[in-house]
Amino acid sequence: MTTPDWQRKGYPHIWMPYSQMATSVMPVPVVLTEGVYIELADGRRIIDGLASWWSACHGYNHPHIAAAVKKQLAEMPHVMFGGVNHEPAMTLARRLAQMAPGALNRVFFSDSGSVSVEVAMKMAVQYWLNRGVQGRHKFVTFQHGYHGDTTGAMSLCDPITSMHSHFDGFLLKQLPQVIPETDEQFAAFDQFLATHSRETAAVIIEPLVQGAGGMRFHPPSCLARIAQLCQERKLLLIADEIATGFGRTGSMFACEQADVVPDIMCLSKALTGGTMGLAVTLATDDLFAAFQSDQIEHALMHGPTFMANPLACAAANASLDLFESEPRLAQANRLEADLFASLAPCRTMPGVVDVRTKGAVAAVEVEQLHHLDWLRQRFLERGVWLRPFANAIYVTPALTMTPTEVSVLTSRMVNVIGEWAELPNE
Ligand SMILES: Cc1ncc(COP(=O)(O)O)c(C=O)c1O
Repeated sequence: MTTPDWQRKGYPHIWMPYSQMATSVMPVPVVLTEGVYIELADGRRIIDGLASWWSACHGYNHPHIAAAVKKQLAEMPHVMFGGVNHEPAMTLARRLAQMAPGALNRVFFSDSGSVSVEVAMKMAVQYWLNRGVQGRHKFVTFQHGYHGDTTGAMSLCDPITSMHSHFDGFLLKQLPQVIPETDEQFAAFDQFLATHSRETAAVIIEPLVQGAGGMRFHPPSCLARIAQLCQERKLLLIADEIATGFGRTGSMFACEQADVVPDIMCLSKALTGGTMGLAVTLATDDLFAAFQSDQIEHALMHGPTFMANPLACAAANASLDLFESEPRLAQANRLEADLFASLAPCRTMPGVVDVRTKGAVAAVEVEQLHHLDWLRQRFLERGVWLRPFANAIYVTPALTMTPTEVSVLTSRMVNVIGEWAELPNE
């Protein structure tokens, strides 16, 4: 791969994410995006299986979003949100409240998924304090969970398997549990909730699909039962729909498939159609009511500088237009069937444990992800952009990916995984 001048000069000054900078290979220089394609500096166009960490749900550079951002840029790229507000944010808040399940009617803006989780944590802890209940500072979390890289969010991730385990002594201690599936596990989970309810601020879950923890799925019935137990034990439930929201699992929000209305819901990633950073934390009327009084101490003291950025809100409103005018959910459901069928040949390959799909998410789970650099390089050589990690070679394409494009992506994947499966284990 050729190294453009800007990369050669800039690389000595950059610190890349999730990378051992001493040994990692040079990042891939990208110059353009379009639809489901990424164009590299050497002129190659590769097909993107990840939609930029699940965010570019309409494909890249959708003209409707681009036009809305351009218009907003000319009028007002940014204004602070303290003491003032603006049409793009008000319209977006109203539309999100209308779309979200149940009485999730209040929208708090922030600028990234992790920060929206921090806000959710503060809302939950302060909800109890404002109601005069002391001592509820902990969160019931789930094995293989991932909620972000800021310190509060890190404490909610799987304490053992997550990439944050070496911060053990630094992070808040939470109450990790296995996601219950059997009657026996549910009985034990309920007992756990009963024992810890007086110190618990909320239960937090990635509904239906745990993403960065290894693309693990649980059925809607399981989510519904967890929500039911939270209700019975009078515990708040936070749904982290940062990855699952906006059609990714085949419904607008994953919670809908289980008829669950959480007390708090976090959204980001595809909120702006993957155009720029924006996140929201939605709260129910009941939760919001606990912050109403004549005392400032009962207010939510949070306010990121770039919260509700008008450009990002304009992009998000345009993205919601597309969900209304184009068949995104049908496309996500068709992707589930297409990905399931076309990745089936991987099932019988040596070292492959499972091939699963849920909406527009597919994962080929392997016993051990050996020869990782080789695998990533080979995908690239075959014109495919994928970033396998943990034990999963996963795909989260744009919801707009056509059947032909899916077939190109998955046939190349099947070939490369087939070659990889024959390599001697390291
Ligand atoms: C479920 C979930 N929660 C939170 C986050 C953190 O979001 P961000 O990377 O925007 O901070 C992610 C990111 O992958 C996620 O998948």
